[in-house]
Amino acid sequence: MTPATMQAVRIHAYGGPEILHHEENVPLPSLKPDDLLVRVRAAAVNPVDWKIREGRLQNVLHHTLPLTLGWDVSGEVVEVGPEAHAFTMGDAVYARPDIERDGAYAEYITVKASEAARKPTTLDHVHAAAVPLTALTAWQSLVTTAQLKAGQTVLIHAAAGGVGSLAVQLAKALGARVIATASAVNTGLVTHLGADQFIDYTQTRFEEAAKDVDVVLDTCGGDTQARSWSVLKPGGILVSVVDPPPEAMAVERGVRSAFVFIQPSGEQLTTITQLIDESRMKPIIHTVLPLREARQAHVISQGGHARGKIVLRVAD
Ligand SMILES: NC(=O)c1ccc[n+]([C@@H]2O[C@H](COP(=O)([O-])OP(=O)(O)OC[C@H]3O[C@@H](n4cnc5c(N)ncnc54)[C@H](OP(=O)(O)O)[C@@H]3O)[C@@H](O)[C@H]2O)c1
Repeated sequence: MTPATMQAVRIHAYGGPEILHHEENVPLPSLKPDDLLVRVRAAAVNPVDWKIREGRLQNVLHHTLPLTLGWDVSGEVVEVGPEAHAFTMGDAVYARPDIERDGAYAEYITVKASEAARKPTTLDHVHAAAVPLTALTAWQSLVTTAQLKAGQTVLIHAAAGGVGSLAVQLAKALGARVIATASAVNTGLVTHLGADQFIDYTQTRFEEAAKDVDVVLDTCGGDTQARSWSVLKPGGILVSVVDPPPEAMAVERGVRSAFVFIQPSGEQLTTITQLIDESRMKPIIHTVLPLREARQAHVISQGGHARGKIVLRVAD
């Protein structure tokens, strides 16, 4: 029996971490015909959560307050909408749900069936929750947009971060040569994930160490993006997930550019499930906190030096 109300961490206004409120008696989200109601076991924290919390994305996303944050979930299906044919009650699923809806810092969430996939059998819910948003970002950047091929060279910025740590592994699974940036403390991690060349960005200007690159994955924006053009070979592509790259710069350099804003996809996530269950990709966990410590999770994420993912444990 699903209860009528649940615990959730919500915001009622935009602002700092202190506006995250752990609340009891929040109504469960209502199920649409093509939805699954998922009992949340774990929810990952992403930078987009605190960007939304601060109100930075109000001109792009159309939220109404109060809003439950968190768009990375792993849990169990407890109710299936009449048009959500692919799943049954009890299925262990994970998803990057629709960011325009209430998120997963809660005991229950509704997810469109087309946005969900079966959880990798080799991961528990905490590790599974760490996958969807960042893995889909890596997939849509490297596979869908850049069409990265075996033998090509890719420069992945912030390779120890949530997106970067999965992007390095995906690029290796595709057969690419990987150049990765991070600070020295993360050399071991990033090399272990498969990077062929490591650049400590705090000591070396990456554009002096990386040359003839086919694809740059920019997860930093700003100065990092501006300095990334020079490492590309003619016809190469700069893909940013942070700042839309100026088209004029790409034309001037004889290269291509793209901005990716991740879209949910149960189909792509199913391919990612397979890569994980074949031990070709694995999530890296920075820390696991209980749901009621969401404020602390935001402080860590906003510090900009997480090593992999921050996950909120919602239920055992
Ligand atoms: N457009 C989209 O759809 C989309 C999707 C996902 C993410 N994003 C955005 O992409 C960005 C990265 O996301 P994320 O989840 O990977 O963030 P994250 O996990 O918080 O990234 C933290 C990592 O960044 C590294 N880092 C910080 N400054 C760096 C620099 N100058 N050069 C190289 N590495 C640096 C840190 O490494 P050290 O500790 O070694 O410094 C740390 O490991 C965020 O702005 C996020 O909002 C956009």
